[in-house]
Parts: sequence; C-alpha cells; structure tokens
Amino acid sequence: MKITLIGAGYVGLVTGTCLAEVGNNVLCLDVDPHKIATLKSGGIPIYEPGLEDMVRRNVAAGRLDFTTDIAAAVQFGDIQFIAVGTPPDEDGSADLQYVLDAARNIGRHMNGFKLVVDKSTVPVGTADRVRATIAETLASRGLEVDFCVASNPEFLKEGAAINDFMSPDRIVIGTDSERATQLLRRLYAPFQRNHERLVVMDVRSAELTKYAANAMLATRISFMNELALLAEKLGADIERVRQGIGSDPRIGYHFLYAGCGYGGSCFPKDVQALRRTAREYGAPLRILDAVETANEAQKRILVEKLKSRFGAQLDGRRFALWGLAFKPNTDDMREAPSRVIMEALWAMGATVAAYDPVAMPETRRLYGEHPSLMLAPHPMDALRDADALLIVTEWKAFRSADFAAMKALLRQPVIFDGRNLYDPATMRREGFEYFPIGRQA
Ligand code: NAD
Ligand code: UDX
Repeated sequence: MKITLIGAGYVGLVTGTCLAEVGNNVLCLDVDPHKIATLKSGGIPIYEPGLEDMVRRNVAAGRLDFTTDIAAAVQFGDIQFIAVGTPPDEDGSADLQYVLDAARNIGRHMNGFKLVVDKSTVPVGTADRVRATIAETLASRGLEVDFCVASNPEFLKEGAAINDFMSPDRIVIGTDSERATQLLRRLYAPFQRNHERLVVMDVRSAELTKYAANAMLATRISFMNELALLAEKLGADIERVRQGIGSDPRIGYHFLYAGCGYGGSCFPKDVQALRRTAREYGAPLRILDAVETANEAQKRILVEKLKSRFGAQLDGRRFALWGLAFKPNTDDMREAPSRVIMEALWAMGATVAAYDPVAMPETRRLYGEHPSLMLAPHPMDALRDADALLIVTEWKAFRSADFAAMKALLRQPVIFDGRNLYDPATMRREGFEYFPIGRQA
C-alpha cells in the first residue's frame, strides 16, 4: 500500500519505517527541513535502538523516502497518517494546531480518496474536527472528494519502539466506516502474529482509550511512589511490597517501580490533557489531580533527601548525576526528572557533573554552556570530587558499578538512588551512605 506519514518525529518515523519494513511504500513528510535533510543523508534525528539500520534498509530497498514537499506527500499516500506533536497548551489541554494544519494540507492537496488516520494522541472529538477541516478546505477549492477519518492511537514506548510496533499487544482502531476498517485491517495484517491484535471500536472510544491507558499507568506509578514514602517511614521495603502485590495477576508486575517520578513526552502531558477534558465536561477525574501533584513532588524527592543530608545551602558543593534522559535507551529529555533536579541544585548554589550514555548532546542543546553544568565523558569522571552521586535514570551500565573505584573518587561516599539500582545491605557493607526510594537506608 502507499502510505504518507505526516510528521517524522518519534512516532511518525517509527511507524513509517515499520510499515515500510513489511512491504509498504512509505513517504514521511516533515515541516522541519533539518530533520528531513538528516534523514535524506542517511542519519536519524533521534536515538532509538535499531531504528537507524531499519531506516537504511528500507531506504535502500526503495520503500521509504522523506520529503518537505506537502503537495507531493499528500498526493502520494492512499492512507495519510497524522503523527504530528500535540504539546500542552498553557491551560494543559492538547494544542491541536499541528494536527489541524496537517488536516488543512490534506484538504488543500488531495485529488482522490484518502483514508486519514489520527495517530497523534488527541482529545476525544478531534477526528470530527479533522473531518470538518478537510471538508471545509475541499469546499473552498470547490471540490467534493470522498475521504474517511479514523483514529489509531499509538502505544509504543521510546527505547523499545520498534519491538512495540512490530509485535503489538493490541492495535486500537476507531472508525465509523467499513471501508476504513477494511483498509486498516489489511494494513495491519502483518502485525497480527498468531492471534487477533485488532480492537475495533468507534472513534471516540479509540481516542479516549489512549488517554485512559497512559493515565492508568501514571496512576500506578504515582501510587507506588507514595507507598514508597510510607514504606520508608514504616521500616518496610517497597521492593518486597512490589513483588508481593505484583504476583497477584489482577495487579501484575509491570509499571510498579517506585522511583524519582515519571517523565517523558506522554504521561505528564496526557494526564494533564485528560484532567482538562474531564473538568470541561463536568466529570472531573479527582484521582488524576492527585497523580499529577504526587508526581511533581516525586521529581524533587532526591533533592529533598539531599537537603536533609547536606542542608539547603549548597554553595561550593558539587554533585554527580548519572542519567539525564527521562528513561533508559532514549535521548529524550522532555519532562525528565533530571531537569527538575539539576535546576533545583543550581538554585541552591551547587554545581553538577552529569553523565548519560546518549542524552548529553540533548542536554547541551537545552542548557548550552551552563556555568554550573559539567558533562563528563565517562560515568566515573562525573564522580571526581563530588559530594554525592544522584542516580536518576536506570541505564544498564550503572547497575554493574565498581564500588571501590566510586568510593575513591567521591569526596564523600554518599549515593541518592532514584531508581533503586543497588541492594541497600550491600551498599552498607561497601561503606556507602545509601539513600534509595522506599527502602531502608
Ligand atoms: P515529535 O515532536 O517527535 O514529532 C512531531 C513531528 O511533527 C516534528 O518533527 C514536527 O516538525 C512535525 N510537524 C509538525 N507540524 C507538522 C505538519 N503540519 N506537517 C508535517 N510535519 C509536522 O512528536 P512525537 O513524540 O512523535 O509525538 C507525536 C504524537 O504521538 C503526539 O501526539 C504524541 O503524544 C503521540 N505519541 C508519542 C509517543 C512517544 O513515545 N513519543 C508515543 C505514543 C504517542
Ligand atoms: C509511555 C507509554 O508507556 C506508551 O505506551 C505510550 O505510547 C507513550 O508513553 P514512554 O513515555 O516512552 O511510553 O515511557 P515509559 O516506559 O512508559 O516510561 C514513562 C516514565 O515512567 C519514565 O520516566 C519511567 O522512568 C517512569 N516509570 C515507568 C516509573 O517511574 N516506574 C515504572 O514502573 C515504569
């Protein structure tokens, strides 16, 4: 099939490449000329394991291409995926300007039938607005051309995006036409594996499903984070509690890890947007108000622990920070806890020596040559003369640390571990002051 991806960011690029991988012809459109130039020259603008090879393979096979030419992109695909950003507005609701721009562009350049698919995470009712926008634009051209609008939210996780897309738990499709359902069934047939992955529903339910999934996961995490604080006070261990409750299949083990808060481009903004929609429709989601408040506090939890140990006056102090990305296996720093932590430490007069395996260029882009930020070429370099280490992202490499060498480099053997990487008893034996989350120090 011939497919256009409008927006070549995390979701657009992964979706386009995976659809090409199973034999479709895909053209990815982006308004960012740098992104397209990078892709055209064989590079990829993001860090996502396995993606670069897959892009290269499909470009070489002639199934995948990139463009900034809107008219050509719209005319190319029988299916037009809208995968542009939906960042939060000042009031927390999803900003739909990029989605509606994409819809206008489709209306402006389409000449024959198109199936338009909203892949971006969008509030309930957006498919109707996309349909109306395309219809208006077509009318202004004096044209009547048939088209369908469907919703197909994306559930991939950064860092595992290819596997999530190629082997999905489910593929949610919201349509109000048999033609759209049949086209999407055909498109997704190669991803079905050995049992039905397609969950077909009406458009509004599909739009809500995406927010419901992210809000449910964020709620689990915030609940565990609050329980962890209680466990610390009670002399209990949140890791044991996690194993104890996760073994109940009604609860399950996934997304029960207490830590220094959730970040990323989805949970924070989607929780905010769903809260906003719920208030607007007079059915407030009080639970989500608490989830967001708890997460904002949780992102500062390491800073609070550090203040209890070192006081609030940190002039002349230096702290090492391991992990800048909002989670491992990505260079994405959107809403990353590391940013809240670094900014709080700077405000108290401290300097930070940070290391991340892939997110340091992104950190430079965000903070420039910040006078209180040193980026270390190796995790051990960050430790030299630091008053303590803060662990913010659970990159695998941090798990197999050389404790003796760490102790020799740190000014004081103090570790605040926001991701519970080490066993507290071992750390005590190794001579560290170790502050995990929800476990006994
Ligand atoms: P992104 O910012 O990485 O990419 C969006 C891209 O769209 C950018 O490259 C931008 O230049 C481009 N763009 C904007 N307007 C355009 C237009 N009119 N025409 C063509 N291109 C345009 O965003 P993302 O992380 O890929 O997210 C996209 C959507 O998918 C969002 O709604 C997000 O909530 C959702 N989503 C993201 C993830 C994730 O893990 N990142 C997962 C599931 C769903
Ligand atoms: C999320 C959803 O998982 C995915 O389905 C959706 O499509 C996009 O949003 P992503 O943001 O890429 O994916 O990362 P995810 O692995 O969900 O982690 C989000 C945040 O939650 C990270 O900051 C992570 O550190 C944190 N987290 C996750 C926890 O604190 N504890 C956990 O148990 C799991």
